[in-house]
Amino acid sequence: LASIEVNVASVQPGMSLTVKWRGKPIFIRNRTPKEVEEAKAVALADLKDPVARNANLAADAKATDLDRSAGKDKENWIVMVGSCTHLGCVPLGQSGDFGGWFCPCHGSHYDTAGRIRKGPAPQNLAIPTFTFASDTVIRIG
Ligand code: FES
Repeated sequence: LASIEVNVASVQPGMSLTVKWRGKPIFIRNRTPKEVEEAKAVALADLKDPVARNANLAADAKATDLDRSAGKDKENWIVMVGSCTHLGCVPLGQSGDFGGWFCPCHGSHYDTAGRIRKGPAPQNLAIPTFTFASDTVIRIG
């Protein structure tokens, strides 16, 4: 199946959901205002990977919080492929030094926008093609 639809009506701020798409885990998180603020406060110059890695945007889009998120008015939502960009382990949510995701395999720390901040992973967690089919349904793929 090329695309899937996920109902996120019950995913409150601070909650996450993991679904499978094309055999990979997809992390969907409804970020808290604090998590969004933390991510917005980071300067691009401090990022190991300054590229958005967002399949919905141009390949050279910058890794601002907005361009890592579901966009304007939906910046609280983040949708990412749950596969560490080092060697593909599945990172753990709400973990690590930056309050985002932590990959226990070799110690990669991602921030609340899924951007690599410390450890061997070379890139931010990838953002798949997705769109909000309605206010409460995300279509991935
Ligand atoms: Fe995640 Fe190596 S696979 S740090």
